Amino acid sequence: MRRTTLSSLGLCAAVAATTLVLQGEVAAQSEGAQHITYSNQVSRIFQSNCQICHQPGNIGPMSLMTYQEVRRYATRIRNLVATREMPPYQYDTDVGIQELYNDWRMSAEDIKTVVSWVDQGAPEGNPADLPAPVEFPVIGEWRLASKYGPPDHIISSTPWDVPAEGTDLWWEPLVDTGITEELCIKAIETLPSAAAHGSTHHANSMFYKQDEEGKWVQNTRLSEFAFGKLGEEVPLDACRVAPTNSKVGWSIHYYPDGTAVPGDQVQVGIWYHDEDFDRSKAYRQDLRSYALQGGDFDIPPNGKLMTQGFQTFDHPVRLDSWQPHLHLRGVAMSIEVFYPETGRTEMISSASNFNAGWNHSHIYADGHQPLLPAGAVIIQKAWYDNTADNPRNPDPDQWVGMGQRTTDEMSHSWIAVTHLDEEGYQRLLAERESRPVVDAGGAR
Ligand code: HEC
Repeated sequence: MRRTTLSSLGLCAAVAATTLVLQGEVAAQSEGAQHITYSNQVSRIFQSNCQICHQPGNIGPMSLMTYQEVRRYATRIRNLVATREMPPYQYDTDVGIQELYNDWRMSAEDIKTVVSWVDQGAPEGNPADLPAPVEFPVIGEWRLASKYGPPDHIISSTPWDVPAEGTDLWWEPLVDTGITEELCIKAIETLPSAAAHGSTHHANSMFYKQDEEGKWVQNTRLSEFAFGKLGEEVPLDACRVAPTNSKVGWSIHYYPDGTAVPGDQVQVGIWYHDEDFDRSKAYRQDLRSYALQGGDFDIPPNGKLMTQGFQTFDHPVRLDSWQPHLHLRGVAMSIEVFYPETGRTEMISSASNFNAGWNHSHIYADGHQPLLPAGAVIIQKAWYDNTADNPRNPDPDQWVGMGQRTTDEMSHSWIAVTHLDEEGYQRLLAERESRPVVDAGGAR
């Protein structure tokens, strides 16, 4: 105890000097800003934004549960929070639709609080001000079960031995779904095992169907899972079909965390609508990459590239979610909609600091999903940086083309599309009258 006090005294002396230099600046700040402490404000911000991952046994490389733990990382925390690298959620805050479900982005105000706190020497404050600890979801239990009961159908990946040590690993088995009857999906949740909870970064699953030659090919998306994320619920006016005689192709990204987990399995749980659900009144929804592929391309060594992909429908649609998919040279992606009747282009979503280490499906909040008339064109733009300036680039001297390997590139968006008819489109549009228009360029 005494030793801690002494060392923090040393720290305080250094802080005091800095404070003197900054005095004018600090005095100009609001009254409240001078009194930001870990105990009174910052601990609460970490509870709601960081601890789900940064606690023992989870994927964050260190625990951020106590002042002592946080203090050591203060400078790094300041920098990663200020640049929005942490919490990891790459979605622009100044253009496109901002109303999202499961949005992990921190408010500008919270970012400012953390930054000012570190700049003022990261004081602890009075421990009596600390909030009660947060109750986090029970590891290994379905979170949607509290709402819907246990899943109607569980599909597991085949067992895989996760080693204790090593770097990124991908496990991509293809397993039977056993689905024999066409049912409408109500909700989906992906659940890593409790044992591999700290090493399962993401786990994406895809339905496969056989083509005419009997080959198993990708059909629609089942689920995308990024750590800490709750499951996905399909809008109530839509039916997302679980295809019969299908398989599930998994793409599981493990990052060993020190604990070996022999025979690990990830599960995906599906809740179906029951017989009361009137399917004839529901619109068909699917989650696909459509034609948003950006074509075939090669990125030159030490070069950059931008690709575009387009998709249009001969009927009105509603876009329910967007997930950009690029690999290591991919640095940004956006989707816009071009309306031929007016000649206007609207920015829908943009991730200008894309990071392939994190996979997120951005789900538009109810009432904010883009409504597209027949003939509107979705424009997907993707940017690649194959120079040494890209910190994730494994080798700037390679030509990089499209391909399945992590070191190849990709260029597509996963989009959940609800296929409307003219009547449904007009009805949804009327419900939106009061919605503010979102312009390309960010004027809102
Ligand atoms: C979804 C899980 C998740 C959330 C939420 C999250 N982190 Fe992280 N964090 C990680 C992972 C995983 C890493 C390690 C590597 C990486 O960057 O992917 C990391 C790395 C870091 C690092 C760098 C550690 C080092 O050794 O350099 C800091 C600092 C950090 N996080 C702080 C925070 C703070 C502060 C918050 C909340 C404001 C936060 N993180 C929220 C998962 C998360």
